[in-house]
Amino acid sequence: MKIAFVGKGGSGKTTLSSLFIRGLAADGTPVMAVDADINQHLGAALGLTDEQAASLPAMGAHLPLIKEYLRGGNARIASAETMIKTTPPGAGSRLLRVVEDNPVYDACAREVRLDDGTIRLMATGPFTEADLGVACYHSKVGAVELCLNHLVDGPGEYVVVDMTAGSDSFASGMFTRFDMTFLVAEPTRKGVSVYRQYKEYARDFGVALRVVGNKVQDEADLEFLRDEVGDDLLVTLSHSDWVRAMEKGRPAPFATLEPANREALGTLKAAALRSYEQRDWARYTRQMVHFHLKNAESWGNARTGADLASQVDPAFVLGETAAVP
Ligand SMILES: Nc1ncnc2c1ncn2[C@@H]1O[C@H](COP(=O)(O)OP(=O)(O)O)[C@@H](O)[C@H]1O
Ligand SMILES: [Mg+2]
Repeated sequence: MKIAFVGKGGSGKTTLSSLFIRGLAADGTPVMAVDADINQHLGAALGLTDEQAASLPAMGAHLPLIKEYLRGGNARIASAETMIKTTPPGAGSRLLRVVEDNPVYDACAREVRLDDGTIRLMATGPFTEADLGVACYHSKVGAVELCLNHLVDGPGEYVVVDMTAGSDSFASGMFTRFDMTFLVAEPTRKGVSVYRQYKEYARDFGVALRVVGNKVQDEADLEFLRDEVGDDLLVTLSHSDWVRAMEKGRPAPFATLEPANREALGTLKAAALRSYEQRDWARYTRQMVHFHLKNAESWGNARTGADLASQVDPAFVLGETAAVP
């Protein structure tokens, strides 16, 4: 299952991602956490020291390795150099599983011990000006998109991505890669304006999008979100002293998180599960092809000097039964 947390900077994406991840770990569920936010803070929110967080490998720096591994023996992809962030898998490609060891995870993932279990964390690496462009060949988020497009994941295993709601994810199709997108919104006009923009992009692609209200203080806050977001509002979290204590460097055991916030995490998990049950691998594959053809035409062909449309394997459908070499 693939889950994204998106929203305005400061809304609480990283905080809620980290709480959600801790909740999954407490349930004994395998998790691959991915920090794809402009501000790389997920490691710290999961309790890493500054030093540990700074020494996480950057997926963006391992793009050639990622491409070479995923390309495998796919005859339609001539070289890793002609592989762009949207190049879809086909016959001969290598696929990823959430729970396995492979050269991509060896290079990019690190284990993080939480009080209730161990999860794995990958990080795109810090963003620069050039990363924020729409059609960036070396896109750091592109490393994540490639992995998601080559991932065969089941309902009992989670990939949780802390993500920026930027133009990069809309142009490439990254925003369509999730079983559930949680849009974290504070009860403010700015918070809900990011929701409206996301909803607009999401509409045509059947993206499952639910709003998680954060830092909701009172009935008036709740009313505001209900008015602005309607039925898309899934649940709200209030200010958390548990989070605040962690921010002070005095983390308490996860088991002592406020019951209401713990319950909200359960609501997120249930919504994600319901959405996973609707997953359609054929549509998922069609969408990656759609965005690949779009990116090929708008910049990829020119950039690589190849006809990237020919990378599409028309007979291939990603899924549990897709051949893994
Ligand atoms: N429910 C909450 N209770 C207390 N503090 C919170 C809560 N949600 C977020 N914060 C705090 O707000 C700040 C911004 O949150 P963060 O998760 O970093 O936002 P984002 O990742 O969306 O930029 C952080 O200092 C975080 O600790
Ligand atoms: Mg963040």
